[in-house]
Amino acid sequence: PAPAPTPQYRPAYHFSPAAHWMNDPNGMVYYQGTYHLFFQYYPDGMVWGPMHWGHATSADLVSWKEQPIALYPDSLGYIFSGSAVVDAKNTTGFGKNGQVPLVAIFTHHDPKGEKKGTDTFQNQSLAYSLDAGKTWTKYAGNPVLKNPGIHDFRDPKVSWNEVAKKWVMTLATKDRITFFSSPNLKEWTKESEFGQKLGAHGGVWECPDLFPMTLNGKTYWVLLVNLNPGGPNGGSGTQYFVGNFDGKTFTPLTTDTKWADYGPDDYAGVTFANTGNRRIFLGWMSNWEYANQVPTAPWRNATTVPRELGLQQVGAQLYLTSQPAKEVARLFPAATTLKDVVVKKEIDLTPRLKNVGDKFQLKISTRQLASFSVVLANGKGEAVVIGYDKPTNKYYIDRTKAGRTDFSPKFAGRHTAPRLAKTTEADLTLLVDATSVEVFADKGLTVMSELFFPTQPLSKLKLQATGNFTVQELSYANLAPKPSSS
Ligand code: FRU
Repeated sequence: PAPAPTPQYRPAYHFSPAAHWMNDPNGMVYYQGTYHLFFQYYPDGMVWGPMHWGHATSADLVSWKEQPIALYPDSLGYIFSGSAVVDAKNTTGFGKNGQVPLVAIFTHHDPKGEKKGTDTFQNQSLAYSLDAGKTWTKYAGNPVLKNPGIHDFRDPKVSWNEVAKKWVMTLATKDRITFFSSPNLKEWTKESEFGQKLGAHGGVWECPDLFPMTLNGKTYWVLLVNLNPGGPNGGSGTQYFVGNFDGKTFTPLTTDTKWADYGPDDYAGVTFANTGNRRIFLGWMSNWEYANQVPTAPWRNATTVPRELGLQQVGAQLYLTSQPAKEVARLFPAATTLKDVVVKKEIDLTPRLKNVGDKFQLKISTRQLASFSVVLANGKGEAVVIGYDKPTNKYYIDRTKAGRTDFSPKFAGRHTAPRLAKTTEADLTLLVDATSVEVFADKGLTVMSELFFPTQPLSKLKLQATGNFTVQELSYANLAPKPSSS
């Protein structure tokens, strides 16, 4: 029997498909006023299956409209993850009469080849749209980049490289990233490999991304590398490297492993194409450890909020920062602000804030960080605890007693993240959406995303501290009601 629907678990401002399975965001691209989000989608079930590219569009990155499926499996295989570009110079020749084509570059995953035990079942292919993403035509010359015999050979992320004056493809090739270049997206030349001996290798490397970012007038290149398993809190995770890219080779500045998000539930995230100087990141808010088991119906899984990426220097290190994209703030126009809230042991903010819900933004700032926690609770003794532990200098989220954890032995747990900022003052932004919390600490230096499934909404809000702790400013805002469509 089909599981009972769980509307109470439906996120309101994160994209989730109306029904069925989703995983990675794919082909994210801004084009003529519209943000396109494609995603790994199985329209015939609530678990992973033959992959399609689902499609959703948005004018503002936060209200998404699901569209018809963009790409269906074909004789070359399932449609795995990949990217999309605006081919402004019509290098592919797909545009006719001056049209600018949107081109999707994706992995064809041939399940028959995989079954046979060959290593060449993942190849890169193209599809294009001449009607702003509505309909897609697969290129007759697919695949355009054939597998040389590498078992994991997937997730092409392509962008126009101004230095090389070519397209550069960043491809996940098992335990490293391989860079390819092309003048026309159809013919590809291998340029270099990176990472076999660097970074985290607890699992296979997947879904990379490479993009430039400037800090103090200097340009750096950020290489995102998703990996599964081997994430910082088990299962799926997103590491990154900051370095230089000369159009052919990526050279990291340092050899340590850094994580874009320490929580268990942000995976396969990459950035939108064609957003000018903005770097807007969106991830899949789940983890392969239990994504197929989470207790939602008739859909499974959602994205993170769009995040604006930045770079920040702390000591000798350059870190990637992620903060909610400015569009997210518009969802929370009416905040209640409290000043100088002194926390001794525990205070229940629920009566002071009047109507605490389970979809809100909470901002907290303090001049003197000490151990403390924010508790999202219900009347049944279930709670998600988000906090900072001074002795270990770590942020954490504990969902051990947050309601349903029975669907997977990997789900319950307390997850930690190092505090990277060196300041005594601290700021935290929490975005809560029924079954998730995204924590952005210290202007996005430490980020954690985490799911939970309470049996009643967590709409009580408390602060706890072991010693004395003062919140200089606390601002709480419920999600604004959706404007009724006219
Ligand atoms: C990452 C991933 C990709 C692959 C896709 C298949 O979550 O495993 O490497 O292309 O999912 O759905």
